[in-house]
Amino acid sequence: MTESLSERIISACERAFPDKKPVLGEGSPNARLMLIGEAPGSEEERLGRPFVGKAGKNLDSFLEMTGLDRKELYITNTVKIRPARQSGKTGKPVNRPPNACELEFFIPFLMEEIGIVSPRLIVTLGNTPLRAVTGNSGASIGGVHGKLISVGDRRLFPLYHPAAVIYNRSLEEIYIEDLRKLRKVL
Ligand code: URA
Repeated sequence: MTESLSERIISACERAFPDKKPVLGEGSPNARLMLIGEAPGSEEERLGRPFVGKAGKNLDSFLEMTGLDRKELYITNTVKIRPARQSGKTGKPVNRPPNACELEFFIPFLMEEIGIVSPRLIVTLGNTPLRAVTGNSGASIGGVHGKLISVGDRRLFPLYHPAAVIYNRSLEEIYIEDLRKLRKVL
């Protein structure tokens, strides 16, 4: 990400979400592969880096299967703040999916970020970035995962979100198969 885009995101967040700490994309701006997740979780917010919590650990082990190193990638999220609500049970903040306002706020920044990195391949993780990148709010990962698709002049390879595999072990085989396909596409 360029300094000017980072600065604009940070100052826009200070105005719109003053109690939140934004988590910006990281990696080489010349990366061939751009990974896009949904939004940071608590650990990401605490450390100010994308995919460093539980989903990040899963992502790292999956990346190993493709022979890719995090250092070769650019990793970001659709929404740059942690969407949270108060748990009814504990009163503590818990993750929730991004809402329409947050998506509308952050998607133009994501599009700019994609334009700057201009990767050879975009890998979206789960429904949120898939819908953001395709501009199709009805798109569903179930129908397109593990397939190379074109969006305008961009190449997109949608994967399930690594957290989905934590909650649904039956997806693990499918995920591994999709990663094998990704390896061939790279
Ligand atoms: N899940 C995401 O989508 N992004 C992160 O950064 C962490 C978990």
